[in-house]
Amino acid sequence: MANVAQLLQQGVDRLRAAGSETPRLDAELLLARAIGVDRTVVLAHPEAPVNTSSEAAFNADLDRRAAGEPVAYIRGFKEFFGLALAADPRALIPRPETERLVELAEQEVLQRLTRAPRPVRTSPLRIVDVGTGGGAVAIALAVALRRRRMLDEVSILGTDISPDALALAQENAVGHGVADHVRFLEADLLPPVIATPFDVVLANLPYVRTDAMPGLPIAASFEPSLALDGGPLGLSLIGSLLDRLPEALTHGGTALLEIGGDQAEGIAQLAAERLPDWQCQVETDLAGQPRVARVERREGGRAAA
Ligand SMILES: C[S@@+](CC[C@H](N)C(=O)[O-])C[C@H]1O[C@@H](n2cnc3c(N)ncnc32)[C@H](O)[C@@H]1O
Repeated sequence: MANVAQLLQQGVDRLRAAGSETPRLDAELLLARAIGVDRTVVLAHPEAPVNTSSEAAFNADLDRRAAGEPVAYIRGFKEFFGLALAADPRALIPRPETERLVELAEQEVLQRLTRAPRPVRTSPLRIVDVGTGGGAVAIALAVALRRRRMLDEVSILGTDISPDALALAQENAVGHGVADHVRFLEADLLPPVIATPFDVVLANLPYVRTDAMPGLPIAASFEPSLALDGGPLGLSLIGSLLDRLPEALTHGGTALLEIGGDQAEGIAQLAAERLPDWQCQVETDLAGQPRVARVERREGGRAAA
């Protein structure tokens, strides 16, 4: 019977040869799944024997991974902001970069809920997560606010143009016990008519340039292209969302929009063209990379058209 260390080495060699960018991590996660334990157990017990049915399951998963399928789709979930979110080809796999958007969103909401006493019966803060995909941003924010006992003070809407993605988002919201607080709606960016504007608009919309799509790792080809392709300059959908902000955001409202690391100048230029009376400031991540554009009306800026 092979042991953990031997199978792991075989897996790493196989995945490296197949072109995985993270062969060791992938093999550790897949072996842990095949044995039915946490990855830390695999790391802690290299000498442990592995039975033949677990070995067969590991080899079957290695076949899938070697063909390019993302580990998150094989495992059926992805860790995001401390949550295990269901992941499958109906939606993009949540990326670690997007945790920065959730952090900023949580800070923003907290600041709005605590900066002045909120009279009883104040209507909840209205938040929308545009292009919610599998619901990562909306759900992680809801869970974070529930921990702070503030979930009842907000209403969260997640929109997406993909009904498949929305079905996964709904499952994730149920799985994390926030389905009563996060609503999902099929929409092209935002509802066609916005009767009451939002206080906070969040979005991680597709921002990969169309000509860069073929150069993405093969794993991305298993994800919906609708979730990645951001048009010729990568900013087409974000630009369309900027166009809608004057009607979608309250005066004093804030939009937080995830961007690519090379799009700080592009978004600043786009915002200056589309929303000349507004301000756009780019927030970085821990590595100092541009990550989220904060877009707000300037004090005294022109009212919505
Ligand atoms: C980069 S993915 C992000 C998914 C999720 N927010 C996350 O961070 O994991 C972008 C999402 O935008 C959605 N999308 C693309 N075009 C859209 C549109 N016109 N209106 C609404 N959603 C759109 C895609 O279906 C996809 O789910």
